[in-house]
This record gives sequence, C-alpha cells and structure tokens, in this order.
Amino acid sequence: MPDAEGKAKSNEKDYGIGVPMETPGFFLRGAGHLDWGMKNRLARIFNPKSGRTLMLAFDHGYIMGPTTGIERMDLRIPPLMPHVDCLMCTRGGLRTCIQPDTDKPLVLRCSTGATVLKELSNEVIGVAIEDAIRLNAAAITTQVCIGAEYEKETLDNLSRLINAGNTYGIPTLGVTAVGKEMVRDARYLGLACRVVAEVGAHFVKTYYCEPDFAEVVAGCPVPVVIAGGKKIPEADALAMAYKAIDQGASGVDMGRNIFNAEDPVSMAQAVRAIVHENEPPDKAYDLYQTLMNERQ
Ligand code: 5RP
Repeated sequence: MPDAEGKAKSNEKDYGIGVPMETPGFFLRGAGHLDWGMKNRLARIFNPKSGRTLMLAFDHGYIMGPTTGIERMDLRIPPLMPHVDCLMCTRGGLRTCIQPDTDKPLVLRCSTGATVLKELSNEVIGVAIEDAIRLNAAAITTQVCIGAEYEKETLDNLSRLINAGNTYGIPTLGVTAVGKEMVRDARYLGLACRVVAEVGAHFVKTYYCEPDFAEVVAGCPVPVVIAGGKKIPEADALAMAYKAIDQGASGVDMGRNIFNAEDPVSMAQAVRAIVHENEPPDKAYDLYQTLMNERQ
C-alpha cells in the first residue's frame, strides 16, 4: 500500500538514523538565543563568514538637511552600494532615492523631533513599526543621548523601538550619540554602549576612542560598530577603521568619510578590505590610491 508520498514501503525512507542532528550556535555575540527571524535579519547585515559589516550611513539629512556630499542622494549613493553590506538611512531617503530592486539590507532610522538648530537629544520615534515592515527593514534604529538633557526620553524611544521590533523579529540598532559637553572616552562610551545593550538593543553603534576602545567592546554583550564621524583625511579614516576592528569592533557604519572622500567608490572598497579581510591600514590606503588612479 503506497503511503502519502507514493513510496511503496516505509523502510525506503531515509531518516538518517545514527546521524545526530546538528545544533550549531550563531556567529554573532549575544545573539545565540534570538529567534530565527532576528538571526536571519542579522545575518543579512553581518556577513556570516567574517562576522562583520560595512554599513553606509546617509541618514544625516534628518537633522542636518542637505548635508555636504549627499545633497543628491540619488546620485551619490547608488554607485557606492555594490561595495557595502548594508544601508542606514531614513524612510524618506530610501523611498525617494534608492531603487527597490536592491538586495542590500536596510537599517532604518526611526527617530525624529530634533534638528541641528535645536537640542538634538529631544527626539521621538516617528516611524511606525508597520512602515518599517512595509519597507522590509532588516533592522530599526534610534539614538540615545546618555547624560544629555533628554537622556530619559531617548532611552524611552529605544525601549519602545525594541519592544516593537521584538514583536515582529526585527533587530534594533542603538546609536550612542555624544553631545558636545560629553567626553568621547572609553569610560563614557563604555557606559553608553552597555546601557544600550542592557535595554535590549541587538547591536550598538558608537565612536572609536583612544585609549581602551577594546574595553568598550568587551563590556558590551552585543556587536559594536563604529561611526565614521566628521571627515578626516582618508589615511586617517582607514587607520581608525583598522584600529576599531583590531580591538574587537564588528564593523563600520561610515558616512562622511566615505561619501566625502576624494573618490568615494574607492574609499568604500578600501574600508571594505579592512572590515572583511583585516587589511592593514597602509595596504588599505595603497588600495585606495590604486583604485582611485585606475578610475581616473
Ligand atoms: C548619527 C548617525 C549617523 O548616521 C552617523 O553617525 C553618520 O555617520 P558618519 O559619522 O560616519 O558620517 O547615526 O547619530
């Protein structure tokens, strides 16, 4: 009598008796106990082979308006996309300037409420989780301003975003914004990163600092990526990326130091070589110059 699959006898099935079912761990720190959807989204952002990510940040306009270098996101961003792992931007930037046929995962900026003209820590969450889902966001993000006037409100924003994301299996990136009155040292950044992770963020974005950046990373139980910060010479930006990775960062979320480089496409490729191939900074800078010369 055939069974439902049309096989004549049950002893023709292959149950792999004697082969234990594997229960592999997960490659990202702090993510071992997350659900499948969370892990799958994180595995789109972080390359499972290197365990790292190169994110391209171009969400600056949400507080700064037409920021130098990305006055025209539709012109500047698409040529960079093949060389990065992930896009970090606003829903307005995405819907207007990025074609939806991209396979790059999106980390969606969800906060609003402040601009550079006023107190930057006075933010709210402005994006409904349904819209993040509609945009197929791989992660959602807001910033916390530890020690700032609206510290409590920014932590509330983060908590609410995490709660919403957890409902649908969407991880949250917590960004540690640093006000002008704060010192960007390991003590402050270590405190901020740890707070963000304990509130429940699945990965954290912060600034590189010297000395003791390794302690910032070690004290944070989820992956840490660094922001690029203000534009600095290309060689210096590459050296910073290398030092961050070397001290345990899981990636770089860089904006101005890529899109305002003399040759942004070559810069993205040079940062990529550091992030995924541990290329030392002098070699990465040689690569940058070689690629730039080839493109001229
Ligand atoms: C600010 C952000 C920005 O996206 C990010 O810092 C900008 O990147 P860069 O500093 O490399 O230009 O998250 O809170």
